[in-house]
Amino acid sequence: MQPPETMDETLQALRRSLDQMARWGCRGFDCSEQALAVLARWSHQSTAAASHKAPAADKGPTAETLEAVRTDLGDCTRCRLSEHRTRLVFGEGAAQADLVFVGEGPGGDEDRSGRPFVGPAGQLLTKIIESMHLTRDQVYIGNIVKCRPPGNRLPEADEIGACLPFLTRQISAIQPKVVCALGACAAQTLLDTGTPISRLRGRFHDANGLKVMPTFHPSYLLRHPEHKRAVWEDMKKIMALLRIPL
Ligand code: URA
Repeated sequence: MQPPETMDETLQALRRSLDQMARWGCRGFDCSEQALAVLARWSHQSTAAASHKAPAADKGPTAETLEAVRTDLGDCTRCRLSEHRTRLVFGEGAAQADLVFVGEGPGGDEDRSGRPFVGPAGQLLTKIIESMHLTRDQVYIGNIVKCRPPGNRLPEADEIGACLPFLTRQISAIQPKVVCALGACAAQTLLDTGTPISRLRGRFHDANGLKVMPTFHPSYLLRHPEHKRAVWEDMKKIMALLRIPL
């Protein structure tokens, strides 16, 4: 086997090795999913630096593919949410999307279908996406946790801890220009803060080199339609960043 030559190849080989060591039950060295997510971030940073030289449409080589992340996730039983789920909701959309939406976690409709944001909140999200002159196929949609919390309760910290490394790797594979965090859970998790969503929304934040625009969750908008205007203002900022004419 040829030794890896680029930083990207080196990181991929390292990640695969650590992953395998973890599966063999090796202890005493950090083979955790969190460590693998850090490697994915390093790789993202190295490819982001390299992509300054790449043509605009080509995001350059990514650390790994979404398929590889899906394969690693497998029939996940890493947290107790797996005991209650019907289907795991990995995420869907364009593998090279400029815009990624991140929600909290699947609800009942998503749990049954295995697809993110397909219930009433999802229908509103679809309208928001279309009002940005985009389609669901052109963006990527995922969640902080991939299995439905029973009774639609908030995901707990250890459940988020088990699942987040996979979302981080998905985002590293996609290399979006911006992530729109839908609601407090997504925004606070991605930005690692306890600040209320009402104070986070409306401006871009930097999360380790990732541009994040927090906004209100579509479920919240269904209960408080008076906040739709604020969300539209946030979407217009994303459109400006992506150079989408109004
Ligand atoms: N709410 C979310 O946060 N995510 C979904 O996929 C559906 C509803």
